[in-house]
Amino acid sequence: PWANYYFAVDQTWDQGAAESNHEGFTKTDASMGASQNVGFVNLENVKGSSITFTVNAEKAGNYMTHIRYANGSTVDRKGFVYVNGNTSTYWQQSFPGTADWDTWNEMGIVLPLKAGKNTIKLESAVDEGCPNLDYITIALTDEPIAETY
Ligand code: GCU
Repeated sequence: PWANYYFAVDQTWDQGAAESNHEGFTKTDASMGASQNVGFVNLENVKGSSITFTVNAEKAGNYMTHIRYANGSTVDRKGFVYVNGNTSTYWQQSFPGTADWDTWNEMGIVLPLKAGKNTIKLESAVDEGCPNLDYITIALTDEPIAETY
């Protein structure tokens, strides 16, 4: 699976900021997306704050999507996940606490992507907002698509 492992090529967010005041985030280079150079993304602690990642898929298929995050709280900061702007079918991703804001973990979800550019939007589903976000990666997988809502 690692042969087709891609970082997001770009990301934009609403109600949040790029920050670097905690340790352990990935110090990326420009090939991982210019906007990631500065650190991690801290979405505001409000339901509905969101980040949209643009990823490039080599071909259509099911992709294991990993999001690396830190959640120094004890609340599961889960989010809704939307692919390519479709809001009628979506996913939920859990982000349990990681003990502190310097401790990072990855959560995975299998999403259907098309060939070429895709958008993956993560929207805070709880009042506490999403966790701090480091990066998103995609890798072709034989696993089935995650449960939809
Ligand atoms: C703290 C922490 C931030 C984090 C925030 C939150 O302020 O320093 O990095 O984003 O808590 O609760 O989301």
